[in-house]
Amino acid sequence: MDDVVLECRNIVKHYGNVEALNGVSFELRKNEILGLVGDNGAGKSTLLKIIRGAVQPTSGEILINGKKVEFSSPMDAAEEGIQCVYQDLALVDQMTIVDNFFLGRELREKKLGFIPVLRKKKMENETEQALKQMEFSMDVNKKVSDLSGGQRQAIAVARAVFADPKIVLLDEPTSALSEIAKHEVFKLLKGLKEEHSLIFVTHDLNNTLQLCDRIIILKHGVIEYEGEVTKDLSLEELLSMM
Ligand SMILES: Nc1ncnc2c1ncn2[C@@H]1O[C@H](COP(=O)(O)OP(=O)(O)OP(=O)(O)O)[C@@H](O)[C@H]1O
Ligand SMILES: [Mg+2]
Repeated sequence: MDDVVLECRNIVKHYGNVEALNGVSFELRKNEILGLVGDNGAGKSTLLKIIRGAVQPTSGEILINGKKVEFSSPMDAAEEGIQCVYQDLALVDQMTIVDNFFLGRELREKKLGFIPVLRKKKMENETEQALKQMEFSMDVNKKVSDLSGGQRQAIAVARAVFADPKIVLLDEPTSALSEIAKHEVFKLLKGLKEEHSLIFVTHDLNNTLQLCDRIIILKHGVIEYEGEVTKDLSLEELLSMM
């Protein structure tokens, strides 16, 4: 199918004696939000880490647009258009929004040979534009430590999207947020699927049903359930599979 952007085939991951993933196969389609749900220790983060190149699978294959890929680092994955937002990749509190945006990307900018002042202006403009595209406007020279949790998450999402990835991976990006902030971030994520495909990892089934087009339930490293999100999906039934 040509609307498949990412395919995982029979992914297995062992950490010593722990079988974190036991043969996981699924597809991610163009313009969809795929929810990856499961209890603590189900293997969700491990799966995302493999897709973003931070961890190598024991066996199995990953295909991007039908082409087999092997990632030995997140940089490899980024080159294939994969970006990630996850909780422990927090923004740097003591830095401004714009500096967080360009953190780790300054090198590419330097090649352009702008004198520092111009470069700063250019980075500010680009950051403002990126936020505006997500219908977010704020002073990009504000320190991240002065932002609310929801604003911070929005900045983290914007930062990932700024790299113009095909695929955005989100690992529990809203778990620390209030209902209102969560609602804002969800709105933003729904807007993103026009141009990107998203995998949203959470252990919160309710959230998944609000946000996602399709869900996968992972249990002890295997897929227990996979299906479209429809109005008649029963929360109880899904919970019983977690
Ligand atoms: N680096 C590691 N070394 C050893 N075992 C690990 C490592 N990372 C994860 N595991 C184990 O692999 C299994 C899956 O962990 P993983 O972090 O993928 O779960 P998860 O679904 O993301 O859970 P949570 O909802 O708690 O974040 C767990 O049993 C965990 O203890
Ligand atoms: Mg996890």
